[in-house]
Amino acid sequence: MRIELRQVAKRFGRTRVLKGIDLVIPPGRRVALVGPNGSGKSTLLRAVIGLLDCTGQVLLDGRSPYENRVEVVRQLAYVPQVAPQLSATVAEVLGLVTLTRGLEPSAIADAARQLELDVAEVKRRPFRNLSGGMKQKLLIAIALAARPSLLLMDEPTASLDARARDRLFALCEPGAGVLPGGATLLLCSHRLEELRQLVDHVVALEDGKVAFDGPARGFFGAPALSVIEGQRGSSPPPEPRHG
Ligand SMILES: Nc1ncnc2c1ncn2[C@@H]1O[C@H](COP(=O)(O)OP(=O)(O)OP(=O)(O)O)[C@@H](O)[C@H]1O
Ligand SMILES: [Mg+2]
Repeated sequence: MRIELRQVAKRFGRTRVLKGIDLVIPPGRRVALVGPNGSGKSTLLRAVIGLLDCTGQVLLDGRSPYENRVEVVRQLAYVPQVAPQLSATVAEVLGLVTLTRGLEPSAIADAARQLELDVAEVKRRPFRNLSGGMKQKLLIAIALAARPSLLLMDEPTASLDARARDRLFALCEPGAGVLPGGATLLLCSHRLEELRQLVDHVVALEDGKVAFDGPARGFFGAPALSVIEGQRGSSPPPEPRHG
């Protein structure tokens, strides 16, 4: 799925969080959205999927997620940074998700198992009582089971242990057959290192604007930008592009 943002802006009260974001992400690109805490990554993700009242234009394959909600949302999956505090049991949550998204319960259980979560074992527990990592695994499993053309995950590795993180990376590989061919990935992290294995492209936010938009290998060779200071590793040849 192609993402196009034109002059997307958002303010909360007097705070301008997004200051006119222009961005084009072609289908199949695997993008890390990075930037310091509070730079607007989660806000931008929510704007992309039409969950936020913002100005400017958001187009997903040429359609607005605000105006064509039903068709567009069917093709995407979103894992929020903070899991909702649902008092419903895991079984009830999964029942609702399978009904509304038309998913096979076995597809969710399979994806969860690959992340080392046994759905049968936790199905009677209230969702909000699961550990942070268990919630994250379940939400990721639901997202993967939907086989989305656009997968958005906000700090997806934040609560995962090292093994589950490696499993997630493997599941998201283009050759793993979990995501459909040509699926676009947009993943947030305040540290690119967390997502480096998963992405080929980096968009860095700084002060509500795009400070870098280019290949991941170029990000590591880019000239000093305050947003990326401390995030660069020893690495490949510079090929910076700013925009
Ligand atoms: N619902 C809201 N009401 C008021 N302010 C908000 C709201 N959501 C976000 N903000 C503010 O917008 C700014 C950007 O927040 P956002 O969550 O997008 O940052 P982030 O880059 O995702 O940060 P982090 O790395 O901590 O996840 C922050 O100053 C935050 O306080
Ligand atoms: Mg965030």
